[in-house]
Amino acid sequence: MTSTAVTRVRTALAAQPRLSLAQLPTPLHDAVRLREALGGPARCPRLLIKRDDLTALGLGGNKARKLEYLVADAQARGATTLITTGAVQSNHARMTAAAACVAGMRCVLVLTSTTTEPTLAGNLLLDRLYGATVRLVPSIDPMLAVGQDEAVVAAVVAEEEASGRTPYVIPIGGSSAVGVFGYVGGTAELVEQLATMTIAPTRLYYASGSRGTQAGLTLGAVLCEAPYLVYGVAVSAGEPEKIERARRIANEAATRLGLAERLDLPDLVTDQSFIGEGYGIPTEAGLEAIALVARTEALLLDPCYTSKGMAALIQHVRSGELSSSETVVFLHTGGMPALFTTDFVDAFARRRG
Ligand SMILES: Cc1ncc(COP(=O)(O)O)c(C=O)c1O
Repeated sequence: MTSTAVTRVRTALAAQPRLSLAQLPTPLHDAVRLREALGGPARCPRLLIKRDDLTALGLGGNKARKLEYLVADAQARGATTLITTGAVQSNHARMTAAAACVAGMRCVLVLTSTTTEPTLAGNLLLDRLYGATVRLVPSIDPMLAVGQDEAVVAAVVAEEEASGRTPYVIPIGGSSAVGVFGYVGGTAELVEQLATMTIAPTRLYYASGSRGTQAGLTLGAVLCEAPYLVYGVAVSAGEPEKIERARRIANEAATRLGLAERLDLPDLVTDQSFIGEGYGIPTEAGLEAIALVARTEALLLDPCYTSKGMAALIQHVRSGELSSSETVVFLHTGGMPALFTTDFVDAFARRRG
């Protein structure tokens, strides 16, 4: 029974250090007007949106769930400085900076940028507001979200130690075994909400980057006996390393939780067809998704992640891959600060003509 499975997961998670950073549970929103715009109940499945954009920490998003476990782990190890990496408009970096404020820690962000003086807007502006120290690294490939940041991270670790502080390095996207606990817990929460509503969705759509969310959602779905297929929509290149990372950290997380279940590569589903030209580059289908969801539900998707995830869902409704008798869940992972960057404003203006 699902409730027994969820209780077992909650008990295993309760033994892990956790710092309360997120406003939970997040709402599960019935997107009636979006469904209407996509053909209504005769053509479109019921659409539920899990509002993890409302986790509240530092403007919200999926990383709050991972950071609850990562920051607690850092504190348990006596760390005083959080260090993490990402693209210059990384939501994960912004939320790590916010978490450091709440936890009373220092934060150093090593961010990859295509320019030496990126505009102070969106997430980068918030990083500064939250008081993080930012170190820039040039980008090596627009199809990948990363630069060669290892040497800079090693230098920052050495500097922190030399100053008498204790650093804790959070991998890109918070995607480690400890970070995985966040979406194992997020799945327990969602499965309970669905059980209360007596709904069994067929798919859970979400935007997939560094794959910690995928590892947590997929492991969580197995552990909690979720009814749905966890359907990741990639926003950046990098297979097959990324799927291997998801499998490895999911299985490490299961080991740490003392649970016997394990994932294999076929359990991890990622659609590669909505990336477009590369990470962070808006697509036409994604821009259409942003406008449609804003105008029907007054919900804000972002140009980098959630718009590409929603573009996949919309295309699957229109192509008939999803039938009107189904229910699907879209996990809104946040990312709104990127709407307030010149890249998005320019793309939006060009599209409007
Ligand atoms: C808004 C948003 N959605 C989705 C993701 C993807 O999560 P993950 O990196 O765990 O795959 C991210 C990661 O930064 C994000 O910021």
